[in-house]
Amino acid sequence: MSQSNWQELEKKLFLQTIKRVPVTLVRGKGSRVWDDQGREYLDFVGGWAVNNLGHCPPVVVKALQKQAAILIQTSSQFFTVPQIELAQLLVKHSCLDRVFFCNSGAEANEGAMKLARRYGKLRLNGAYEVITAHNSFHGRTLAMTAATGQSKFQEPYTPLPVGFINVEYNNIEAIKRATNEKTCAVALEPIQGEGGVNIPDDDYLRKVQSWCREKGILLILDEVQTGFGRTGTLFAYEQYGVEPDIMALAKGLGSGVPIGAFLAKEECSVFSLGEHGSTYGGNPLVCAAAHAALKYQIDHNIPAQAKRVGSYFLSKLGAVKQQFDLITDVRGRGLLIAVQLSQESADELLLACASRGLLVGRLKPNAVRFMPPLIITEKEVDKAVGTLKEALGEIGNPKP
Ligand SMILES: Cc1ncc(COP(=O)(O)O)c(C=O)c1O
Repeated sequence: MSQSNWQELEKKLFLQTIKRVPVTLVRGKGSRVWDDQGREYLDFVGGWAVNNLGHCPPVVVKALQKQAAILIQTSSQFFTVPQIELAQLLVKHSCLDRVFFCNSGAEANEGAMKLARRYGKLRLNGAYEVITAHNSFHGRTLAMTAATGQSKFQEPYTPLPVGFINVEYNNIEAIKRATNEKTCAVALEPIQGEGGVNIPDDDYLRKVQSWCREKGILLILDEVQTGFGRTGTLFAYEQYGVEPDIMALAKGLGSGVPIGAFLAKEECSVFSLGEHGSTYGGNPLVCAAAHAALKYQIDHNIPAQAKRVGSYFLSKLGAVKQQFDLITDVRGRGLLIAVQLSQESADELLLACASRGLLVGRLKPNAVRFMPPLIITEKEVDKAVGTLKEALGEIGNPKP
């Protein structure tokens, strides 16, 4: 079947929730993917910050093949070894003590916020409100839509579940003003991904943490996008000198297999038996893959590589900005990078890049985002920047 036929079928068969790039991908290896016409692309979308080790990393493929032949799914009614091994690794390499496995980022945040509410009920006189930020993104479930401080995700679904207070990001006073006797937690992304790759002041999270401690409320960090080396350290909180009480994870955790998790400090691990659960969460297949991926990342210091190549990429993009009026800002940390445009040309730029063999992410109508595999090389960055310049040359005038 030809590429256009697949795409016509998709239009007929699917609830239309996303504007897809007209490329049908069939194969991937490392930082490259191929479409059903045999065309090759450099992938700087990385499955939306998931494919940290690239496509089909041998270490993950091997773990999946091995585990698939032994035990795939058991339910959480039983103990399984891959799940416990993965939890051990996560606890060893984070500041947290206990783990719950689920299947996605939205679910990880749901669980994290349920845990905070449980803590509020047991320890804070029934406090249940969670303060979150404008321009945040915590997932697509109904409750996480209320947590996500962006009206475009909220308005289609009102009335929303109560108990989520959205305040300005990077503004400690806004959090202080919103805190009252009903507050059980503050939940933030260390760097906002979907909301625009917004990097807060260096001391923002430290101030939030001290406020939470002063008030006895919990600090939840959503590291679904920033976790697993994306910003140059295994977790972004390490760069800000804070420790969350609860942390939500997904995306890079499985390097391609669907898995999420939330981790908690011992003091706030207050669930009792039966108070939370998941059929697939932490099944042996995904945990074996995630364990192999995480171990590889740690053993090979992939976060340091992301930091080095990310700085290189940012400096190259800074130079491109000097050459094109269309670019008004370049911002990012590690390999989470946004390019802001002076007009709503993101779709045009996406297509101009794709037609030249480079896949980039749409962030906003006037911004694109790069979240390549963390294993990309400086040479691949050079190639991507060269392609980006050609695409910009097609749609935007170079500076005189
Ligand atoms: C910070 C953050 N939290 C939560 C989510 C939701 O994750 P998922 O799509 O796996 O539910 C995302 C997805 O982009 C995210 O970036």
